[in-house]
Amino acid sequence: MGRLHLGMNADKMAKMEVKTSLLDDMIGVGDMVLLEPLDEDSFINNLKKRFDHNEVYTYIGSVVISINPYRSLPIYTPEKVEEYRNRNFYELSPHIFALSDEAYRSLRDQDKDQCILITGESGAGKTEASKLVMSYVAAVCGKGAEVNQVKEQLLQSNPVLEAFGNAKTMRNDNSSRFGKYMDIEFDFKGDPLGGVISNYLLEKSRVVKQPRGERNFHIFYQILSGASEEFLCKLKLERDFSRYNYLGLDSARVNGVDDAANFRTVRNAMQIVGFMDHETQSVFEVVAAVLKLGNIEFKPESRANGLDESKIKDKNELKEICELTGIDQSVLERAFSFRTVEAKQEKVSTTLNVAQAYYARDALAKNLYSRLFSWLVTRINESIKAQTKVRKKVMGVLDIYGFEIFEDNSFEQFIINYCNEKLQQIFIELTLKEEQEEYIREGIEWTHIEYFNNAIICDLIENNQTGILAMLDEECLRPGTVTDDTFLEKLNQVCATHQHFESRMSKCSRFLNDTSLPHSCFRIQHYAGKVMYQVEGFVDKNNDLLYRDLSQAMWKANHSLIKALFPEGNPAKINLKRPPTAGSQFKASVATLMKNLQTKNPNYIRCIKPNDKKAAHIFNEALVCHQIRYLGLLENVRVRRAGYAFRQPYEPCLERYKMLCKQTWPHWRGPARAGVEVLFNELRIPEEEFSFGRSKIFIRNPRTLFKLEDLRKQRLEDLATLIGKIYRGWKCRTHFLLMKKCQVVIASWYRRYSQQKKYQKIKSSTITVQSYIRGWKARKQLRELKHLKRCNEAATVIAAYWHGTQARRELKRLKEEARRKHAVAVIWAYWLGLKVRREYRKFFRANAGRKIYEFTLQRIMQKYFLEMKNKMPSLSPIDKNWPARPYLFLESTHKELKRIFHLWRCKKYRDQFTDQQKLIYEEKLEASELFKDKKALYPASVGQPFQGAYLEISENPKYKKLKDAVDEKIIIAEVVNKINRANGKAASRIFLLTKNNVLLADQKSGTIKSEVPLGDVTKVSMSSQNDGFFAVHLKEGSEAASKGDFLLSSDHLIEMATKLYRTTLSQTKQKLNIEISDEFLVQFKQDKVCVKFIQGSQKNGNIPTCKRKNNRLLEVAVP
Ligand SMILES: Nc1ncnc2c1ncn2[C@@H]1O[C@H](COP(=O)(O)OP(=O)(O)OP(=O)(O)O)[C@@H](O)[C@H]1O
Ligand SMILES: [Mg+2]
Repeated sequence: MGRLHLGMNADKMAKMEVKTSLLDDMIGVGDMVLLEPLDEDSFINNLKKRFDHNEVYTYIGSVVISINPYRSLPIYTPEKVEEYRNRNFYELSPHIFALSDEAYRSLRDQDKDQCILITGESGAGKTEASKLVMSYVAAVCGKGAEVNQVKEQLLQSNPVLEAFGNAKTMRNDNSSRFGKYMDIEFDFKGDPLGGVISNYLLEKSRVVKQPRGERNFHIFYQILSGASEEFLCKLKLERDFSRYNYLGLDSARVNGVDDAANFRTVRNAMQIVGFMDHETQSVFEVVAAVLKLGNIEFKPESRANGLDESKIKDKNELKEICELTGIDQSVLERAFSFRTVEAKQEKVSTTLNVAQAYYARDALAKNLYSRLFSWLVTRINESIKAQTKVRKKVMGVLDIYGFEIFEDNSFEQFIINYCNEKLQQIFIELTLKEEQEEYIREGIEWTHIEYFNNAIICDLIENNQTGILAMLDEECLRPGTVTDDTFLEKLNQVCATHQHFESRMSKCSRFLNDTSLPHSCFRIQHYAGKVMYQVEGFVDKNNDLLYRDLSQAMWKANHSLIKALFPEGNPAKINLKRPPTAGSQFKASVATLMKNLQTKNPNYIRCIKPNDKKAAHIFNEALVCHQIRYLGLLENVRVRRAGYAFRQPYEPCLERYKMLCKQTWPHWRGPARAGVEVLFNELRIPEEEFSFGRSKIFIRNPRTLFKLEDLRKQRLEDLATLIGKIYRGWKCRTHFLLMKKCQVVIASWYRRYSQQKKYQKIKSSTITVQSYIRGWKARKQLRELKHLKRCNEAATVIAAYWHGTQARRELKRLKEEARRKHAVAVIWAYWLGLKVRREYRKFFRANAGRKIYEFTLQRIMQKYFLEMKNKMPSLSPIDKNWPARPYLFLESTHKELKRIFHLWRCKKYRDQFTDQQKLIYEEKLEASELFKDKKALYPASVGQPFQGAYLEISENPKYKKLKDAVDEKIIIAEVVNKINRANGKAASRIFLLTKNNVLLADQKSGTIKSEVPLGDVTKVSMSSQNDGFFAVHLKEGSEAASKGDFLLSSDHLIEMATKLYRTTLSQTKQKLNIEISDEFLVQFKQDKVCVKFIQGSQKNGNIPTCKRKNNRLLEVAVP
């Protein structure tokens, strides 16, 4: 063998030295194929020898025989995992890991879906084996956070399902009470993606009743032992097992099992698998409800019709169940007392007796639990299902309940054993039968080996017409009274002649006297032994009926999980069709499973139980012998030995090994078979080691295959080296060519660059040289030009100097000449002047004086005006300042200028006036025109404003009457003195001037004394002196003139006279005559009286006094 491993690395070699084949340090024989002599004894002895040396695994070719050690062996450590990882099947001692590794690698590398079929009777170690396979695969497949989570979920689904689906039985403390098939899905790299679990028929009868010495499902005990007080209280449970009728008491505790710890493990596993808290809670509520259902008891109550009706004894438990599950208590209570049968729209309600009530209760408990279990599987599947939709490779692990023979075997055992029959069948099909048939098909020389084919037993059970399951179904569906006995009768009729069917009552007289066979039983000779089945309960269990009232009550529950478990309870979905029977359901699912398994590459683990005591170190030969027989292991070895360990169609074989021979590598042009022949000849493989079939090559010994594999591996390494070499060569060459190409490009670019540089350098130096030469030339030329210019200049200068000298000389001459001419002219002029002066002396003097005078005058005037401009006084009309006169002769001009200036500034001033101001000033102007320099009183009046209305006629209530009488605008209202015409005495009168009239009114009463229209006033007379007297002359013949003219005195004479004058002018368009004279005539009635003003004493102060001197004279003394 060592020769085969030349190519391996030192590390691996070191490992190899320890163990390179299962033949090394072998105890007994590791592969039963090598057993010599081959008989039952040597087979058992070999197993025992190995078992005694802790070698629990032995091969038959690729099948692993596993004997349950019933103790933990140190052969499942991570080191062991590493040891078996990526090693050939026969390289190391037989181990379940070797099979797992083979299956996994075949799945990963050859893309073949695998299934691992684990068979054996109850307690033989199937479940443990399945877990070992899963944990090995989990350990060797890909790593990474996501992958690890998938693995963890897949592994943790086991404790959950075991808690709910396993129980302690007489044969196994952890017996699987359901069948499980798990597909683990992988991606192309061999990383796990997820999984799918299928479950098969849970043994639900265990929920309500367990055989002696057995327990209910683990979960019930786990909850009661492991849940906290608080949680138990929530579930309305008590810790004491004995409180619950459904829990078998005699073996409630199992040695070496810590239910409390397991409860924690289960809860943790549920969490890892992905159960939400509320889901876990709901699950435990259902479990609690099932447990409590068992405590409901019934008592008979007589009814009027003489029938007994069941009543619940103590409703407390019922109440708690209803509280826990949200079911209406009355609904559930009624469902335990009545049964409604519906047929064709008719509803018939019948009462239940006590037995029926118990039956209903148990049916409900069983259904609740089994449906909960199926829900758990679905829920786990939801969590572990692969998330991606990529193509998956599948490894199926089948761990189904083992073959069972109890004292009392019922429907469940029948089903379980049927399943095992089917598995044995598939084993036979795939290994023994298929193998022999293949040899014949391929034309390989072959001696037939006898083996027992259990197809006949399968047929006894599953035949569609005469099979036991078909008859059971027929019986269940038959109208009329159907009992287990009628079913047995039917069996006795139909199967009487079947070789494997035994019954006391059958027509076959063979068993008439067989006392070991009770009347109520039938016996089947299974491949694994005879099993006697109690017919009691078959019909019921097959029917699996739950009263509709109960399913409806469950559906009505206010508990989402329970509601979901009983969809048929929904009244809207009433289905009058019978549901398929348990038997037919199971048959169908087993058929599907078998079909599924046939599509995969099978790997067998055949578990053997060494003793019935669940004890280590005990090897019960008889028991083992029995198992070996019914498992057909000896036949298996024989077929293996007679046949070939390995076969493969020619094409893939040539494809796989063609690199081992020069003729076939890299291409073989001829037929594949010829290629393989050439190959095997070239490799000098002994002829007895292989055979050529029609389409396949058969290799007798696995070692030959390993040799081929190792050669291939080494060759592949050489090829890899070659490919590497060629690749490296190619890579280097390509690299070199690339570098060369690059170098050429770089060189050309560099040359171009350097040439450019050189050219630029030459160009620039040429330009420099050129510029120097040009510069030198230019300078030279410049120098010459400069020289020339200087010469020219010098010549010019010399010429200029010469010309200058000439010119100066000429100038001098000319000047001399001009001076002389000038002198002559001057002398001549003087002479002439002298002559003219002498002649015109007299005229000259007279004119010059006048001109000088005018000029001087003009200059003075000019100066005067310019100076005046700067000395102008302010613009105020009352400013009296005026600059002093500078020259006497400008006296009149100066005055005129002053006047003009004054007029001008007056105009300026006037221009600023408003209309009202204008009016006032117009009046004042009028007054000045009338009285200035005429009446001495005038200057005093200039400063006084003309107010007109000195009396407030309109405001003062005293003058109301007067105001009412005068409806025109009053221009003057003042108190005047009226001089009595007769004696010259004064009396106060109110003088009113309106637009049209002059009115005199009594000062006190306001009565109008006289009213003169303005048209009747002809003249106003007054003195030139400083007094306020004035006479108002009236038109002769007018109405007012009858008494004569008025003689009045006022303090505002100037204003009154002016206003009277202006009003008369504006009203009558005639100028009022104002006479200023110290003597004037007034008309008193018919007389004309002269009023004369004289200088009087000051005895009356400043007030003038009047005195009538005579008829013709009235004297007024003015102080
Ligand atoms: N490889 C093993 N190493 C140690 N103990 C083992 C091994 N295999 C099985 N056992 C023990 O045997 C017991 C029964 O094994 P297991 O539950 O796998 O039997 P089974 O074949 O699945 O039975 P059933 O058909 O009743 O489910 C286990 O609980 C364990 O104690
Ligand atoms: Mg099991």
